[in-house]
Amino acid sequence: MTTSVEETLVLIKPDGVARSLTGEILRRIEAKGYQLVDIRLVEAELELLAQHYAEHQGKPFYEPLLEFMQSGPIVAVRVAGQRVIEGFRSLAGATDPTTAAPGTIRGDLGRDWGLKVQQNLVHGSDSPESAARELALWFA
Ligand code: PPS
Repeated sequence: MTTSVEETLVLIKPDGVARSLTGEILRRIEAKGYQLVDIRLVEAELELLAQHYAEHQGKPFYEPLLEFMQSGPIVAVRVAGQRVIEGFRSLAGATDPTTAAPGTIRGDLGRDWGLKVQQNLVHGSDSPESAARELALWFA
């Protein structure tokens, strides 16, 4: 099977940066064989986050999520590789870190901290369309 190289947006969320897990998360991405193409440390503004999470507006977690994403610096990474969009989401694990499978970033490094917002360490684009849209937002 031949597949072309694609790119995805990975965000190391404020909890990952605050817990000094940036190196460990980048290590896992590189160890899988993906390439780090670009990287930025970002204090995300509300407008950027509102655009990034536009599809979730109105959901119960929307406001707390935007507040959490403004609580500290985020590391934004452009990552490349064959099937990297699907591959990174598999590396990240399920949304809820308590039940995410061991071996995944969220399953190994995350948990419920009893806070109103779920802190799950990373974001990865969920489709080629999302990746193009999100990379344009974070690497304008
Ligand atoms: S949905 O409703 O099924 O589309 O939601 P899901 O795909 O699971 O999650 C969408 C993004 O919202 C984040 N999320 C949350 N953040 C904080 N608290 C709660 N309770 C919560 N539920 C979902 C989830 O991590 C996704 O964000 P990203 O940045 O893509 O990880």
